Amino acid sequence: MDKLLIEGGARLTGETAISGAKNAALPILCAALLTREPVTFTNVPQLNDIGTLLKLLAQMGVKVSRGSGDDADTVTLDASALDNPVATYEMVKTMRASILVLGPLVARCGEAKVSLPGGCAIGARPVDQHIKGLQAMGAQVAVEHGYVHAKVPRLKGARLFTDMVTVTGTENLMMAACLADGETVIENAAREPEVVDLANCLVAMGARISGAGTDVIRIRGVECLSGTTHRIMPDRIETGTYLCAAAATGGEIRLTRTSSAYLDAVIDKLMDAGCDIVSERDAIRLKAPQRLTAVSIRTSPYPAFPTDMQAQFMAINAVANGAAVIRETIFENRFMHAVELQRLGADIRIDGNTAMVQGVARLQGATVMATDLRASASLVIAGLVAEGETVIERIYHLDRGYERLGQKLADLGARVRRLA
Ligand code: UD1
Repeated sequence: MDKLLIEGGARLTGETAISGAKNAALPILCAALLTREPVTFTNVPQLNDIGTLLKLLAQMGVKVSRGSGDDADTVTLDASALDNPVATYEMVKTMRASILVLGPLVARCGEAKVSLPGGCAIGARPVDQHIKGLQAMGAQVAVEHGYVHAKVPRLKGARLFTDMVTVTGTENLMMAACLADGETVIENAAREPEVVDLANCLVAMGARISGAGTDVIRIRGVECLSGTTHRIMPDRIETGTYLCAAAATGGEIRLTRTSSAYLDAVIDKLMDAGCDIVSERDAIRLKAPQRLTAVSIRTSPYPAFPTDMQAQFMAINAVANGAAVIRETIFENRFMHAVELQRLGADIRIDGNTAMVQGVARLQGATVMATDLRASASLVIAGLVAEGETVIERIYHLDRGYERLGQKLADLGARVRRLA
């Protein structure tokens, strides 16, 4: 199993480009299930999670064409011969976001069988809200033998209210509603930019959606959708991760093909920590002080501070001047990186969903184990500032969500090597 060897101490400088957003690409690729016409997507990141989803779509009868060379980020999906609306446990267990096929399949085929995602390293993460929404739209849903089995001749528009803000839940129900009979209103909808990117793609396919980006989304169902070409938005979490990596190393970087538009909460905190940040049209520049000041954070749905940046901020606080309190309010078990950071010498105390981090002057390299995607990113950041060598095991998590991480870090001057 591949490992990442990082020799700490290099200050990150220079420039690298940000990829398309994983969490936008996953739902948007699923939107192709809603039409018989081919849909082309550009700026699709080359990640294991995307590969898993494309394999799943192919199993259902979707024709998948991927560009090569300069067009490697282009994917065309043709779901005209969709004949097997099933997502097996073998596929779903490796990627929870596979649940995103449920809404489009029920809407297009009148039936879907999708495995329950099961447990996951960062908590229970149930899908009850996805199911409740489809039932409210008239689907018969049975949960049997570990599968969600949904059936309905045609979904009916309905007023939906989710008990909590759920990103993939909102996306699933919004996609389902596009082909429903009548109007659907999703209240307490997620406002994440990835939801808006999905809505923009659906509208380009002929859907009638208003309110995406607010907590009330209205969808007027249509008979059918058509093909389009859609460019996936830049990855705001990848952007934030490189900003944190540069900040922790006292670096000065420029990230291109991205924007600060969706990163206000993260940029605010980095500025509180002492960084200078300049937003350009399609780029962000960051200049860090020699040592950061610790900053407290509390995760919440967008536009507040994202849970997907919590682990990276724990890493930068671990070496900052002062103490910080980190509160995780979205997932109940998302502090696994704390014990690994402690192995590198970080001073962190956990009490329920709160972590108290007391910055230390330096971390020391060690062998650590990645437990989930963003936890892995926090270990990379810690490894970059630790004295000596850090070996990160189980980096398949990083391959799920960070395109060419080793190469991009090397572009910025990090001393990183992949070990087989
Ligand atoms: C998405 C993101 C993930 C991010 C998360 C929160 C994708 C592919 N993944 O995950 O990177 O960390 O949003 O911003 O976009 N919940 C329920 N029942 C449900 C649905 C959710 O109880 O039916 C709970 C979850 O357990 C969690 C909270 O709601 O505590 C928010 O989860 P949700 O927004 O659904 O996360 P995902 O969409 O899975």
